[in-house]
Parts: sequence; structure tokens; C-alpha cells
Amino acid sequence: MNLFVRKPLSALLEEAREEGQGTLKRHLGPGNLILLGIGAIIGAGLFVRTAAAAADHAGAGVTISFVIAAVGCAFAGLCYAEFASMIPISGSAYTYSYATMGQFIAWIIGWDLVLEYALGAATVSIAWAEYLNKLLAQFIGPDWVIPYSWCHSPFQVSEMGERGIMNAPALIILIILTLILIRGIRESAIVNGIIVAVKVVIVLLFIALGWSFINPANHDPLIPPVSEYTNSLGITHSFGGWGGILSGAGVVFFAFIGFDAVSTAAQETVNPKRTMPIGILGSLAVCTVLYILFSYVLTGVAPYTDFRSAGLEASVTYAIEQYMTGYGWLARFITVAILFGFSSVILVMLLGQSRVFYSMSRDGLVPGFFSVLHPRYRTPYKSNVLFLFFVGLFAAFVPGDVVGDMTSIGTLFAFVLVSLGVILMRRSDPDATRPFRTPLVPLVPILGALFCGAMIFGLGVENWSRLLAWLAIGLVIYFVYSQKHAKIKG
Ligand code: ALA
Repeated sequence: MNLFVRKPLSALLEEAREEGQGTLKRHLGPGNLILLGIGAIIGAGLFVRTAAAAADHAGAGVTISFVIAAVGCAFAGLCYAEFASMIPISGSAYTYSYATMGQFIAWIIGWDLVLEYALGAATVSIAWAEYLNKLLAQFIGPDWVIPYSWCHSPFQVSEMGERGIMNAPALIILIILTLILIRGIRESAIVNGIIVAVKVVIVLLFIALGWSFINPANHDPLIPPVSEYTNSLGITHSFGGWGGILSGAGVVFFAFIGFDAVSTAAQETVNPKRTMPIGILGSLAVCTVLYILFSYVLTGVAPYTDFRSAGLEASVTYAIEQYMTGYGWLARFITVAILFGFSSVILVMLLGQSRVFYSMSRDGLVPGFFSVLHPRYRTPYKSNVLFLFFVGLFAAFVPGDVVGDMTSIGTLFAFVLVSLGVILMRRSDPDATRPFRTPLVPLVPILGALFCGAMIFGLGVENWSRLLAWLAIGLVIYFVYSQKHAKIKG
């Protein structure tokens, strides 16, 4: 029994070449991919988690947190790009690790990616529910918002003492988007293109118009002194200082998640060897610049302490309404745009999830059910429906902060493994064709692993235990099912 049996590169490339019935359609170009990337990247991380990171961990220093997260992503992104260009096959980090570090690690990564994609989709749908309520208040009236208990998890209690029952709007948006996904990716990419344009416009508008409302006192000190803070879920932890900045980086790292989702579309990409690196690094670069500016303006317009109370939900709209007099139209526009924008993120996350399980299913590590394609739309519809139940459960019954941080830690863990995988692959297959080469190996992969490792550290003991629990469940499934059913035997 060899736990570390590897999937040969030749077999992977053969799969990538397969065309026709039973495989995915190939029609995405570099432009589509950058759009797909930005579509996945800008979302709840920026419009919800930024304020949460400022309130809970970093204060106005969240801008520095963004810089740390961006640097970690850039290093890991360069590693992803090498793999994505040399193994242009659907499945992302899972596929790369099967070729480099063997079946067992591949399983761990594939299992871990459920945290990234499925829980990522749940987090964004919860954020969607926050902004939906804002929309109802803005356009119909404050009395018409959804009652607190029907848009919050049972673990949350309002300031008035009302307890959540379930997050119904989060569940509803997931159902709608799953249906769109089943209908087909071409249509989804067009809708996504329009939404991406709107998202970039609102980010630019907020930066440009908010700049003159920055109150320098809110940025002073940029790094708040260390203190104790009890968050809305009753958990007490340290706030401020460089530790707070690092924890904040782990939280806002969520905002960068998605650029790697581009790599999961490799099998649907025209000329993936050239297109994938452009898609991954291009979308990452655009977003980094926007995020740094955006977080600087947001924490300058509103003091971070507001995000602990009145501005806890739908924080961007709150900041505009509260501090940017005369810009009510902007608040309304942003709310509408965010609702569409979040939808595209959820779409790409759900897409990524079903694609990873598609690959794992074809390898025999999860049941064949996950790779059954719809006879007409050729999408893995059974998998989409199953994940709707799974994601829906988290979206409806778990608080956004918890699923958000689990998404971050799961993805960071995958990034560490992918970064190390580049070094291993250079040793084991030095002559393989690499249309894109990660620069300065092993320095860049090591820095990628170190930065992502530091953010994992910053996310704290609750999140480490959740990650470990999830991985432990994965191990049981691996030894009970996957190893026996794997097509490549160790
Ligand atoms: N990066 C995505 C977001 O911010 C997941 O919502």
C-alpha cells in the first residue's frame, strides 16, 4: 500500500486533451478568465470582512493586513500559476498535488478545498443576506426588513435580545444560483462579465468619493495599542498591535480567495498554458491595488469602533449613510451592485467546488455520482444539487464570522501545500514542460508557505481546532472509502 502514489503527468495531460462527449466544454479565453477571477475575488471579503477585521483585530491597521495578505497571495499565486500552466486540468490544487505529492496529500487538499469553495459560498451568501436587508430598508422602508430571527443563525442574538432561527435569504440565493450553474457555464460567464464591471465601478467610486471624507483622526494610530476584546459571538481575544494586524490578515485573506478558482476552470480554457498564468496573476494584481485603497478609505471614513455595533452589518453602506453626507444615491447604488457582485462570487465558488469533486470523482476518490454530467447542459448537476444542501446548511445555521474564518484557514492550508509542491515537483520532474515558471525557486515557494503559515497562526486556536476536526473527518473517509476505490492503486 503506497499512500503517496502519484498520478502521472502524462495521464493528466491526456485527460486535458480529451474532447467530446463526457468532458467539459472548452471556450474560455484570457479575458474571460481575468473576469472569472475578479468575479470570484471581489466580494464579501472586501465589503464585509474588512470591517470585521478592523473591528475584531486590527483597527485602521487593516490596510496593513491587506498588504500582508496580498504578499502571501502573490507568492502562492506564482506557485499556482506554474502548476496551472503545466497541468491544465480541472481540479486546482487537488490535481497539482496528485501529480506531485501523491494520493494521500491530494486527498487532504481536495477535502480541504471544500472549506474554501463550499464554506466560501456559504459566507458570501450570508453577507448577501445582510445587504438584502439594507436594500429593503433603503428602497421600501426600515419597517420592511426581514425579521432578525429569519436572517441570522441560531448562534446569533441581536442587541434587542432576539435570537436567530435560520438565515433564509442566504439559502434562497444559493438555490437560485445553483439552478443557473446547472444551466451551463457559458451563460454564467456572460452574466459574470457584466457583474464584474459593476463591482469594479463601485469600488472605484467609493475610493474616489470617500477620499475627501477621510477623517485623519480615524487613522491615528494606524496600529491600535494591544488590548482585550470580546467579539459578537462572546469570544475574548487580543486586539491591536502587530498580532492584531496578522490576525486581521488571516481574516481579510478571504477577500483574495478566488484567484485560484481560475485554475479550476483549466479544462474549459482555450490554450490553458498561456491563459492560466495571465488569468491568475492578472486578477490578483488588479484586486490588490483596489483593496489597499478601499480599506484605507473605509477605515478613514468611519472609526473602526462603529463596526462593532451599528455598522456591524452591511458596513460599507453604513459608512456612506452615516458619514458621507449627500451621497445617499451612492449607498443605494452600492447596495444593489453588491447584491449582484456577491452573486457572481457565490457562482464561481459553487462552480469551483463542483469542478474539484468532478476531478476527484473521476479519480475514484469520491463516488462516481459527482462526475455525472447533465445529458444536455453537460454540467455536473447531481454534484451541484448535493452541494446545495451542504452549503445551505452552513449558510442557514452558522454565523458568517465562523464560516468566513474557516474558509480562510482552509484555503491558506491549501496554499501552503501548493507552494511546497512546486519545490517537490521541480526535484521529481525537472524536465517537465513548464510554460510558466515560478521565479526564484525555492525562495518564492518558501515565502509563500511562510506568509500563509503566519496567517494561519494569526487566525487563532478556535480556527486551528476547526481545521483539524475537518481534516480528521477527511482522514476517516479516505481510509474507509477513497483509498479502496481509487483508480490508481498504491
Ligand atoms: N474573495 C471572495 C470574497 O471576497 C471570496 O467574497
